[in-house]
Amino acid sequence: MKVLITGISGFVGSHMAEYLLQEHEVVGTIRQRSRLDHIKHLMDLQLVELIECELRDPFSVEALIASVKPDRIFHLAAQSFVPTSWNSPVDTIYNNTASQINIMEAVRRIKPDCKIQIACSSEEYGHVEAYEVPIKETNPLRPLSPYAVSKVTQEFLGYQYYKSYGLHTVMTRTFNHTGPRRGENFVTSNFSKQIADIEKGKQPPVLYVGNLQAKRDFTDVRDVVRAYWMALEKGLPGETYNIASGSCITIEELLQKLLALSKAKIEVKVDPARLRPSDVEILLGDYRKFHETTGWKPEIPLDQTLRDLLNYWRSF
Ligand code: GDD
Repeated sequence: MKVLITGISGFVGSHMAEYLLQEHEVVGTIRQRSRLDHIKHLMDLQLVELIECELRDPFSVEALIASVKPDRIFHLAAQSFVPTSWNSPVDTIYNNTASQINIMEAVRRIKPDCKIQIACSSEEYGHVEAYEVPIKETNPLRPLSPYAVSKVTQEFLGYQYYKSYGLHTVMTRTFNHTGPRRGENFVTSNFSKQIADIEKGKQPPVLYVGNLQAKRDFTDVRDVVRAYWMALEKGLPGETYNIASGSCITIEELLQKLLALSKAKIEVKVDPARLRPSDVEILLGDYRKFHETTGWKPEIPLDQTLRDLLNYWRSF
């Protein structure tokens, strides 16, 4: 099968490419300013085809779909960092929604039988009441950031194109995910990189943190890309599925797990700049709907994911 990955040079995109390569022809979109270090090993062996494409530009996307004619699309490209969405709300919402509209418009005209996975987010749930966990797909959406609103919009667009044009869209509401190559802004990578830098003497032994009270449900990225594949093979069109581990920890507990993996003596300090205008208090997902449809369940324990992530940052 011919598979197109938008955002192939990003964190999830690079893992998705590795997962698919054995059995499928993989094409990915990049932009001129994309950093390619996550996929350099695949490029050196000529295992993936890369096409420069500006997803915000309908002409660029139409040319892409016309030349690739994909059987499957994993739409992973997005502005995905929540704090950036407060600094650039218009850009976040425009980027994330326009890119998707351009893809679906091109697909419905040129390759209408192509199946499209849309990377949505547990951030869409936003404010969650204590009695609502573990969160099911039927929970109300109460988004708390412009990023979350952009993902709600992406999800509804996916549904609307299914209903209006019969496009085979499947929406995945993925809870937090991490693993090697996670961008350094995100909490798991940020803490791991600081620990690795302290161990190397590159940073004084003070680790800066934001809100440690938030609770998050983490899945390993390698389990997540397997879920995305299954979502298109077995998921129903127009449906939304939670992808989660089914358990959650506080960011404080996450920090303690990472600190326990290091021998360095480290002081922890709150950096007020890391606190958000509003932070989602708890995300704990119920993934039974997806499990019942596809058989998927997470396999990699969080402790292993964190070890792999810390070793990734130690390798630089
Ligand atoms: N980034 C960051 N840095 N977060 C911190 C820090 C810090 O120093 N200290 C505490 N946190 C807290 C944040 O306030 C938040 O409650 C939690 O750690 C996780 O933050 P992020 O890793 O930035 O992820 P996120 O939960 O905002 O969003 C991630 O998960 C979503 C799915 O729920 C992203 O990957 C999104 O793209 C994704 O959709």
